[in-house]
Amino acid sequence: MTNNPTANFIRIALAAVGMFSLFACADTAAPKRFTIGFSQCTTGDAWRRTMQEEMQRELSFHPDLHLLPVEDAGNSSERQIEQIRKLVAAGIDLLIVSPNEAEPITPVVEEVYAKGIPVVLLDRKTNSGIYTAYIGGNNVEIGETAGRYAANLLREKGNILEIRGLRGSTPAIDRHKGFAEAIQASPGVRIAAEMEGKWEMEYVRKELPLLLEQHPGIDLIYCHHDRMALAAYEVAQRAGSGRALHFIGVDGLPGTNGGIQLVSNGVLDATLLYPTGGEEAIRIASDILHRRPFQKENLLQTTVIDKRNVRIIEMQSNRILNQQGSIERQRELITEQQRVFRNQKIALYFLLGSLVATILLGAWLYKSLIERKEAYRQLELQKEEILDQRNQIFEMSRKAEEATQAKVHFFTNISHEFRTPLTLILAAVEGLLGMGGSRETKNDLGLVRANALRLLRLISQLMDFRKIENDKMKVRASENNLPAFVNELMQSYRKVADKRNITFRFFAREEFLPLWFDVYMLDKVLFNLLSNAFAFTQNGGKIDVVIVKDPIENQAVIKVEDNGSGMSQEDVAHAFERFYQGAAYKSSGTGLGLSLSRELVQLHGGEILLWSEKGVGTRFEVKLPLGREHFRDDQILMEKRDLPPYDEYNFYVDEAPAPAPAVVPQPHEHTLLLIENNDELRGFLKEKMGKYYQILEAADGEKGLDLAYQHVPDLILSDVHIPAENGLALAKILKSDLRTSHIPLVLLTANATMEQKIEGIQTGADAYVTKPFNLVFLSEIIKNLVHSRETLRERFGSGSLPDGRRLAGMHNLDQQFLQKFTEMVEKQYADPNLSVQGLCEAFRLSRVQLYRKVKALAGESVNDYIQHTRLKKAAQMLLDTEMNVSEIAYKVGYSSPGYFATAFKTKYQCSPKDWREQQGKHAV
Ligand code: FRU
Repeated sequence: MTNNPTANFIRIALAAVGMFSLFACADTAAPKRFTIGFSQCTTGDAWRRTMQEEMQRELSFHPDLHLLPVEDAGNSSERQIEQIRKLVAAGIDLLIVSPNEAEPITPVVEEVYAKGIPVVLLDRKTNSGIYTAYIGGNNVEIGETAGRYAANLLREKGNILEIRGLRGSTPAIDRHKGFAEAIQASPGVRIAAEMEGKWEMEYVRKELPLLLEQHPGIDLIYCHHDRMALAAYEVAQRAGSGRALHFIGVDGLPGTNGGIQLVSNGVLDATLLYPTGGEEAIRIASDILHRRPFQKENLLQTTVIDKRNVRIIEMQSNRILNQQGSIERQRELITEQQRVFRNQKIALYFLLGSLVATILLGAWLYKSLIERKEAYRQLELQKEEILDQRNQIFEMSRKAEEATQAKVHFFTNISHEFRTPLTLILAAVEGLLGMGGSRETKNDLGLVRANALRLLRLISQLMDFRKIENDKMKVRASENNLPAFVNELMQSYRKVADKRNITFRFFAREEFLPLWFDVYMLDKVLFNLLSNAFAFTQNGGKIDVVIVKDPIENQAVIKVEDNGSGMSQEDVAHAFERFYQGAAYKSSGTGLGLSLSRELVQLHGGEILLWSEKGVGTRFEVKLPLGREHFRDDQILMEKRDLPPYDEYNFYVDEAPAPAPAVVPQPHEHTLLLIENNDELRGFLKEKMGKYYQILEAADGEKGLDLAYQHVPDLILSDVHIPAENGLALAKILKSDLRTSHIPLVLLTANATMEQKIEGIQTGADAYVTKPFNLVFLSEIIKNLVHSRETLRERFGSGSLPDGRRLAGMHNLDQQFLQKFTEMVEKQYADPNLSVQGLCEAFRLSRVQLYRKVKALAGESVNDYIQHTRLKKAAQMLLDTEMNVSEIAYKVGYSSPGYFATAFKTKYQCSPKDWREQQGKHAV
């Protein structure tokens, strides 16, 4: 049985149907429990056929008895012996024998009996009493009755011819015996002649004529059966003595040429009824086999049939024959009905089986329904439990996530926090390094600087990981010439290589190999690989960087190979795992660099491979796909992107540039507003920048704004992370306010993602400097911005209208302002009442603000600007008109020609009159 309940159930149901069907068949056709064998001495006559018909009829009432086909010995005793043995071998339960002759058949009957097989002798007997039962007529009595009848018929006087059956067969013996005994009672009657007819008509026909001739005084012929009597009658007829003779036969069979008809026809005077015993034989066999009581000797009754009773017997026998016919038909009908009944029974049982199966199915379905309901209920419970557990797990993981986030947050914040002090340290160290000092001090300071930079690098890597984890690390790929990029990067290591006598070579088959990559990221990857190579390579060793184009895989391969100490296979297997520190790394490294490198390479759709062998060396291969199809549009940056010249990594390997700016700004000429909440950093910046600029300081955005409005400084340097308005919001406010829109703004932050930098620039910041900054870099930026304003001013002279070219590079608001301002002066210069106050009101600016703004944008004060415009106009008028100097002075808004003349002289170094003469001449 399988574990599948449905399949099992179907098997059971089918078994039920099958069982019922089988039961139906078995029940309707009852098994033949007993097999009977029948050995006939002959089947060649009507009497024997009648016997067998009777047996068949009786058998229909004994369904458990099976009669094998009758064995016909054909009047041969030898054959009968053979056939009996064959039947025994076939496994019969009972043997019926009608022995051909008594003597030869006796041993085989005894043999069968000895085997425990019951033997029923029918009609004829054997010589011994060893058999189970006998059925047959009383042949001695038949003989006696025939004898008495003959004597009576001959009226106690006459001669008789006896025609006997087969000598060895018991009926022949007994019929003679009884006949002879009865005759003895009538002295006038005698058996004058005898012959052996052997139960054969032919034999009689052949032998009798001669015998009749020899015994002409015969009065009566007694034959042992009717058929021999008929043959004798025929012979006598032919001899012409037929009418005078009397004939007596035995058997008294009904039907054509049966004894009854022969008596009725007058052929025979009488016949003695000799029943076949067929029915009785089957009945007794059944009793024996069922161990029911039975009689061993069963003698059948006889009677004389002669002309006195032949009519009635004939009628009765005909009736019997008819009845037998009808019985036969009924038997057939019954058989047919039994067949129908059997079929119906089969159908019924099948239906019953199906019904049982259906009931079983129903029960099973009901049961499985209940089970299913139960299972469903259990499932529901389990589901609830699982849901509960899941919720708990969710809750736990949420808490864990929160805790992790808090940790990471803290971690990130603390990393951020590290950057400012490190910036301060680095800036201070750089300052000190720039101041000179002993070689020893310089070495110490170099060490401090190198280690501070190392810490910074670590923090950077941690922050990069955080970005990668949060999916915020965005690739911004631009197309660059890879060999040039790598070669340039290698220059940072040249000094170290020289110092350590390391052969540091670069090979590139292609001088130009364009590749799309994020310069910042690839810079970090290569930096890590080179750091790694330098860390593992002994002084005097060799490091090769090779660039190959792999056209088959359509990729660029960068190999960094050293002949250093190499790694163990275990270290190789884990080299790219985060925080894994192999044996060789134990002393140095964080286990972050290679891991980060791999992440960065993967962001480029590439892969990084590593081969290393202890004592032989290490080779890294970075494989990056060519083309740009593997990048999304938002990962592509169309313009070239250079590395910032003062990237923190460069600090690490390069010597610090001298902090002395190329052009030293005039001290205190310009004002710088510092907005920084970190007191230390603000103090540091104040100290450093204070050397060149007037410093205004604010610790938060609000204060910063106040100071900006109040003083309108020349530059604002603000941290992004400041309380009360962060740097970006501050930038927006400053750049959208006319009062401050012109002021260059430099934002300072540790949040160095490109997005933030872009956002900062978009809000209007003029520069974005990442912490840790290099002080020189920062002061250069400040200087440049202040200086670029001057350049702008130079481009824009007073008295002339600003055109597009001149205004380029200026903030939108400032462009508008300048446009409006110059237009106003242009329109109103003739009005002596044109004043600073008026312009202040027009622009809603304070005097200081207007002054600072105009000074910043135009490079001169408002008054100077108006003055210069008037003088320019006047100069033009001197040349273009005939008006005298006084007229012109009033025309351009001067209320005093004297004042005009002085002012003109100051600007043009000559009087208006002289100007007219000199310039007029030139004009001519
Ligand atoms: C048939 C028969 C009968 C006779 C009997 C004696 O074969 O000859 O006519 O009565 O056998 O066994």
